[in-house]
Amino acid sequence: MAAADARAWRAAALAAAVSAALAAVPARSAWADATGPRSATMCAACHGPIQRAWQASSKAHSWTNPVFQAGLADARAARGERIVLRCLSCHAPLAAASADLSVANPVSQEGITCNFCHNVSQVEASPLPASYTFDSAKPNLMRGPYPDAEPGSAHEAAYVETFTKSEFCASCHWGDNDDQGVEFEATFPAWRASRAAAAGRQCQDCHMPPAPGKASALSKKQRPAVYAHTFVGPRTPGGLDSVATVAGGVVRGRLRVTVRNTRGGHALPGGGHSLRAISLEAVFYDAAGKELSHAAVATYGTEFADSAGHGPVPKWLGVTVRYSHEIPADSTVVEWADVPAHAKRAALTLTYLPIAPAYRARLEAAHVDLTGRDPVVLARAEVPLP
Ligand code: HEC
Ligand code: HEC
Ligand code: HEC
Ligand code: HEC
Ligand code: HEC
Repeated sequence: MAAADARAWRAAALAAAVSAALAAVPARSAWADATGPRSATMCAACHGPIQRAWQASSKAHSWTNPVFQAGLADARAARGERIVLRCLSCHAPLAAASADLSVANPVSQEGITCNFCHNVSQVEASPLPASYTFDSAKPNLMRGPYPDAEPGSAHEAAYVETFTKSEFCASCHWGDNDDQGVEFEATFPAWRASRAAAAGRQCQDCHMPPAPGKASALSKKQRPAVYAHTFVGPRTPGGLDSVATVAGGVVRGRLRVTVRNTRGGHALPGGGHSLRAISLEAVFYDAAGKELSHAAVATYGTEFADSAGHGPVPKWLGVTVRYSHEIPADSTVVEWADVPAHAKRAALTLTYLPIAPAYRARLEAAHVDLTGRDPVVLARAEVPLP
């Protein structure tokens, strides 16, 4: 389908889904239907380790996440009810697929859950948000990476090659505001430009690290690679270890700082466009060790502006990019700072900010739970000055 046709189709499908949902909000008992999508707790009976890893990941909390809920309330206030389905299509995709706009189904509340991903039959990697095809007709048919799965009577199984490729993740990690024009999630194109992509390393290889084992307690087969459902990332303990280095020196009287993205895969920060940032700061000391001054050397990330040119604004209001400075995969960026008089030492700190300062103050004022969103130091360096 051409992009324009796909957009027109999607707009019509969204409009139809919204009116269907508003006409008939399903009775709660409808969710008890045994033919509908199942809860992850049901899969846990045979896929225990997979369910536990997923449960601890951000995927299992993508609907309940208080930072998302605050964003959803803001988006709804700014853009009206019609924006809700868009947000749900990536953050609570079963709700979007069943036009359950109030997210009443407890399985939909599980966010990006097993029976959503494993019922995706196809992905057409594109900046169209939610570019997956979800097959609601056969909830008990699990698509996956094995051409020779033997699930017995547990469920049906089918091999879908996309599960083993980055394109699968592109369905949500690449998206634009189709009516406004900026790409608000762009991890997939950033990956495609990396050496990791050229070498055939997929998102799954880094974010679902594989190990030999059994895919199920009931499996007959020992598999060379079972992919962990940890979705490791900045919110996983240790997920930001050794992702960047910082170094400095003096060149023609100025401080020259180099920042390197050492883990490749894609640019740093890696996603959540406009919400996350990385700051590079220098503190200068004199010979006695007294602090002389503090310099904000650089900020990495992307900021959007709204139709009036004001920013930074969150992704749902972004119409243009007002600022973008990221650390590309496999690359070093160079920054400069002036050295104050009498400075004998500079301390450099590179810090990951899960929520950029512009939004943090707002979320704090609204008493949103920001547990686990503290800044994380990525790298430090000491530079002696002549
Ligand atoms: C194309 C899929 C897609 C759509 C549509 C989408 N998001 Fe997101 N959203 C993401 C992804 C992927 C992330 C995580 C990026 C990361 O962690 O780097 C995210 C992250 C977020 C976060 C940050 C959560 C946190 O805890 O830090 C908020 C808030 C958010 N989205 C709100 C919204 C709202 C509100 C809407 C609707 C206007 C929306 N999103 C639409 C894919 C999407
Ligand atoms: C009664 C046990 C049982 C239950 C419950 C169960 N599975 Fe399975 N599943 C298996 C077995 C056994 C296999 C085969 C593993 C193999 O061949 O290595 C399997 C294979 C799979 C595969 C691989 C399919 C492929 O072709 O690559 C996926 C995906 C999967 N299950 C998802 C799920 C999901 C999601 C749920 C919950 C909705 C679930 N399973 C519930 C036993 C079960
Ligand atoms: C974000 C989408 C996503 C979610 C959510 C998800 N999976 Fe998967 N799953 C995948 C992908 C992708 C693979 C294939 C990885 C590969 O082979 O490269 C996979 C592989 C599997 C396999 C084959 C064995 C393995 O681990 O490689 C089983 C079984 C499975 N998933 C079960 C589950 C169960 C049970 C849940 C919920 C607790 C779940 N999945 C949640 C995407 C997902
Ligand atoms: C249905 C949409 C969807 C699909 C498919 C999807 N993701 Fe996500 N992913 C999200 C959303 C939404 C978030 C943010 C959740 C939140 O912050 O509440 C996210 C967050 C993440 C994070 C950030 C974790 C952290 O610690 O901050 C990583 C890493 C990630 N996804 C990797 C993947 C990989 C790898 C795949 C493909 C195997 C994939 N995702 C497929 C929607 C999706
Ligand atoms: C070579 C390994 C590697 C590959 C391949 C890779 N990533 Fe990452 N990814 C990382 C590392 C390391 C981080 C933590 C640093 C960061 O936050 O950028 C990360 C972070 C992320 C985050 C969180 C970004 C943030 O700052 O909130 C998301 C989302 C993500 N990756 C998605 C993907 C997707 C989708 C793909 C495939 C299109 C992919 N990654 C491919 C290594 C990789």
